[in-house]
Amino acid sequence: MIKIVNLRKTFNGQEVLRGVNLEIPKGKRTAIIGRSGGGKSVLLKHLVGLVKPDEGEIYVNGVDITKLKGKELDRIKRKFGMVFQGAALFDSLTVIDNIAFPLRELTDIKEDEIIDRSMNILRQVGLVGMENKYPDELSGGMRKRVGIARALVIRPEFMFFDEPTTGLDPITERAIHQMIGLNPITEKAVSKMIGKCTDIHECTDVLVSHNIKEVLEISHKVAMLHEGRIIEDTTPKELLKSSNPVVKQFISGNIEGPIHLY
Ligand SMILES: Nc1ncnc2c1ncn2[C@@H]1O[C@H](COP(=O)(O)OP(=O)(O)O)[C@@H](O)[C@H]1O
Ligand SMILES: [Mg+2]
Repeated sequence: MIKIVNLRKTFNGQEVLRGVNLEIPKGKRTAIIGRSGGGKSVLLKHLVGLVKPDEGEIYVNGVDITKLKGKELDRIKRKFGMVFQGAALFDSLTVIDNIAFPLRELTDIKEDEIIDRSMNILRQVGLVGMENKYPDELSGGMRKRVGIARALVIRPEFMFFDEPTTGLDPITERAIHQMIGLNPITEKAVSKMIGKCTDIHECTDVLVSHNIKEVLEISHKVAMLHEGRIIEDTTPKELLKSSNPVVKQFISGNIEGPIHLY
């Protein structure tokens, strides 16, 4: 599991994370919600070792990854698959080279196996025939799928999804959910999924989203990030009953309330 302790980060005098504390349990899907610009992407980038905090610790299976560098950090990064907001593909690389990128960067796997594994995952996300296209020749939904394939190709223990369906139409959204195993959760599915999150990867998921419906349907646990701290840490069911006025306003989307718009 992942344990975040008193994480702080300031950019140019702006305190984005002001002491975040959160536990992300193994084999479950944890959603992080909050307003745009509230620091959700910054928090995820800390969790995958892309950004160092000013203060605080992040324990992954008991090891504080904020203190790791070089080869030790690379070894931990192999456990992480990250699907960036807006996919963040390399425009100058073809689809297959985008997918193969983490294997070439982070592993010593031989080139023919890299291609085999990349083609295999490309099939799983339904992109056969697209391998030699460039990102700007693809639709938004396809780009997201390449991003997901690139994250899955290293067979990660932890998957991080930053707004995986924002900006997509409802049908593509559903297709993406099915592909990454983010299906609506039933009681039966929950017990089945403990230890096995999705169809094509077995791992712990962290999902960032401001799509309340998506979060309530597909998460086991929900944490709300507000003004740099976690102000609610609960189940989707309990979130709906929260007495916190900030949480209530966020869920209902009311303009009136304690959240300042500007
Ligand atoms: N590398 C950076 N340098 C300076 N400011 C940054 C950087 N990354 C994020 N920020 C700022 O941190 C705040 C939170 O951003 P972000 O995590 O992207 O929000 P969210 O994902 O919740 O919409 C924003 O005000 C953003 O401008
Ligand atoms: Mg973001």
